[in-house]
Amino acid sequence: MIIELNEITKTYPGCESPAVKDVSFGVEAGEVLTLLGPSGCGKTTLLRLIAGLERPDSGQIIIRDQEVASSKSWIAPEKREIGMVFQDYALFPHLSVVKNIAFGLKNKSKEEIQEILELVGLKGYGNKNPAELSGGQQQRVALARALVRDPVVVLLDEPFSNLDMNLREKMRRDVTRIIRQSGTTAIFVTHDQKEALSISDRIVVMNEGQVEQQGTPREIYELPHTNFVASFVGQSNIMEGTIGTDEESVITELGTFPCQHTHGKAAGEKVTISVRPDSFELDSQGSIQGEIEDILYKGETIDAVLNVANDEINQSLLVHIHPEVKVKNGDQLSFRILPHFVAVIGK
Ligand SMILES: Nc1ncnc2c1ncn2[C@@H]1O[C@H](COP(=O)(O)OP(=O)(O)OP(=O)(O)O)[C@@H](O)[C@H]1O
Ligand SMILES: [Mg+2]
Repeated sequence: MIIELNEITKTYPGCESPAVKDVSFGVEAGEVLTLLGPSGCGKTTLLRLIAGLERPDSGQIIIRDQEVASSKSWIAPEKREIGMVFQDYALFPHLSVVKNIAFGLKNKSKEEIQEILELVGLKGYGNKNPAELSGGQQQRVALARALVRDPVVVLLDEPFSNLDMNLREKMRRDVTRIIRQSGTTAIFVTHDQKEALSISDRIVVMNEGQVEQQGTPREIYELPHTNFVASFVGQSNIMEGTIGTDEESVITELGTFPCQHTHGKAAGEKVTISVRPDSFELDSQGSIQGEIEDILYKGETIDAVLNVANDEINQSLLVHIHPEVKVKNGDQLSFRILPHFVAVIGK
């Protein structure tokens, strides 16, 4: 591990509850790790703690085998060799691109600056001022400025949130490619689950200052440990049920659901399951029948709310329907359930 946080807690002065509480995670060299969670869950606070801009109340931070923060030690931010890319890029408006990148640097040659310009795709832009560049180009200048210092880790706080949607997609790809090419370790912060799933080697999901789950994007999406993770990362229907006798299905009020991930639970055990909207497939013979009560056309899919009601139950489910299907409110439709995205919540 190149960075390790052990049981980090931080309460800001005058605040009753901690901004982060007992947070532990590690980052491997060369890894792209994302801190994902809703507004106010403590993501920026964690970056500031790693950078040395805040001191933890308790716990320990280790960077490259050196304890940089604990009850016994403290290494100043400027000695931690950490690069930061801020949301607003924080470029000097009156300095050229090259001067922005080289600001305060003594040990880099002109050639090395040109190499980094090339890496971020801005060869030939060195003499322009930031105001002459697009948002995405300015962001790459900010990234170059961080990378040219050969940081142990580069911290990026919501780096794409100022960009329009198309540019954001492109910059996600460009920035992660540049970071991977340079071999730098990176910690991204985002509250956008799609972004986290697409750019990360590993994700740490945060909620109210605590870690809910950490794992690869696939583990987080397919095997949520908590209801929070199931509904925050992607969309999910959360239901109660019991494990079926075959131990590969879950019996719910709506019928028996084939379930790929039962975590070895025994038949008859009560469980909570997460059923992704993609688990439903239109099928006239399907066992889940209901009335469409709301539709949201999204281009690549249709988000529909299906109301399943009879004498005993009245439950709404979120289902995805292929956009080619002409569907409207009030339609009676049947679905079958695919096991892929049905998982018992827990470990
Ligand atoms: N300087 C500060 N003084 C007091 N409280 C703070 C300070 N900075 C943050 N907080 C509080 O700490 C908690 C965590 O804040 P933080 O900025 O780390 O959240 P975040 O996950 O980055 O949120 P966002 O997605 O909105 O940026 C919040 O409740 C916030 O109000
Ligand atoms: Mg923040």
